[in-house]
Amino acid sequence: MKTIFITGGAGFIGSHVVRLFVNKYPDYNVVNLDVLTYAGNLENLTDIAHKSNYTFEKIDITDYEALKALFNKYLPDGVIHLAAESHVDRSITDPFVFVRTNVFGTCNLLHCAKELWKDNFAGKRFYHVSTDEVYGSLENDGTFFTEETKYQPHSPYSASKASSDHFVRAYHDTYGLPVVLSNCSNNYGSHHFPEKLIPLAINNIKNKKTVPVYGKGENVRDWLFVEDHVTAIDIIFHSGKDGETYNIGGNNEWKNIDLIRLLCSVMDRKLGRKDGMSAQLITFVIDRAGHDLRYAIDSSKLQNELGWKPSLQFEEGLEKTVEWYLANEKWVERVTSGEYQKYYEKQYNRR
Ligand code: NAD
Ligand code: TYD
Repeated sequence: MKTIFITGGAGFIGSHVVRLFVNKYPDYNVVNLDVLTYAGNLENLTDIAHKSNYTFEKIDITDYEALKALFNKYLPDGVIHLAAESHVDRSITDPFVFVRTNVFGTCNLLHCAKELWKDNFAGKRFYHVSTDEVYGSLENDGTFFTEETKYQPHSPYSASKASSDHFVRAYHDTYGLPVVLSNCSNNYGSHHFPEKLIPLAINNIKNKKTVPVYGKGENVRDWLFVEDHVTAIDIIFHSGKDGETYNIGGNNEWKNIDLIRLLCSVMDRKLGRKDGMSAQLITFVIDRAGHDLRYAIDSSKLQNELGWKPSLQFEEGLEKTVEWYLANEKWVERVTSGEYQKYYEKQYNRR
């Protein structure tokens, strides 16, 4: 029986990783470490929470002593680290919490893993899940981020993730900690917190509220369906080479305004509205400070060396995502009202 720590498992991507690992690997003991910030929602995991190979631990990764106690309690063989503050706009308003969680929290995890495993690193693995935003911004010139692209983060979020990536490599190079990293493009899919572009727009369109598009909507993002990201994480965790970095992306670039127009037409169709109705909700608003123009990922290393490829076309993934949000109004309602934050108290504290 292997024990795997998954940090940030109550968040958007983390909950998909936990679900896949719990279902696909019944012989793994999957422990979800999450402090449940506003972005952590245990209702993302109600379908697997009862499984015998799943455990939840409420813990703040910035608390070294508490973390050390958990490492000593469970003696994990692997760590898949996703816990983070993840929203660029929030990082502009409060950079310090990004430093605490993303940098300091990552160092705490690295140190706990190093201390526990230092006498024998064989069979151990620390996997850091990171973002393509560490590479900075591209022009509209057809170039891509590769694993060799120089780090040039611009937002406090991407600076904190870049810093944590460097610490992961430093623990590998200095102490021999067995690590692997991935840098992924923008994800979309179910259970995405409705502060990020796609779920925010779906929710606003549904409620006939304006859809804010920053600047002129000319910024380009490379979108990947979350379940394809999770398949890549599974492959990299099990087959990635020690000390290596893999870029993950869907080769799927969209200008924000084109994406929102497509989303509006899907919503019109799904809601039985006249074509063009939802697009009237589009409102151009003041641009994000330091807004990166374009992200685009070259994932050929992952595709050629480890055989991963994305499974869904964007139109198909977007359609599935819209369908999930429309079929799960209660989830959205409980998130927007704050009700979801009471779930932990009910399920765990009073048991
Ligand atoms: P999210 O914001 O949805 O979830 C983050 C999770 O981390 C939440 O459950 C939160 O409660 C938990 N957390 C935050 N601070 C914590 C702390 N101090 N201690 C313990 N838990 C804490 O994030 P996400 O979008 O699922 O992203 C997950 C990871 O993937 C992040 O590391 C992010 O940088 C990376 N990533 C995200 C994207 C994307 O498009 N969302 C793309 C590439 C990489
Ligand atoms: P976001 O989902 O916040 O992801 P990231 O900033 O990590 O790429 O934003 C995606 C793109 O959409 C980004 O270019 C900013 C833009 N955006 C808007 O135009 N309006 C919005 O309300 C939000 C949240 C984002």
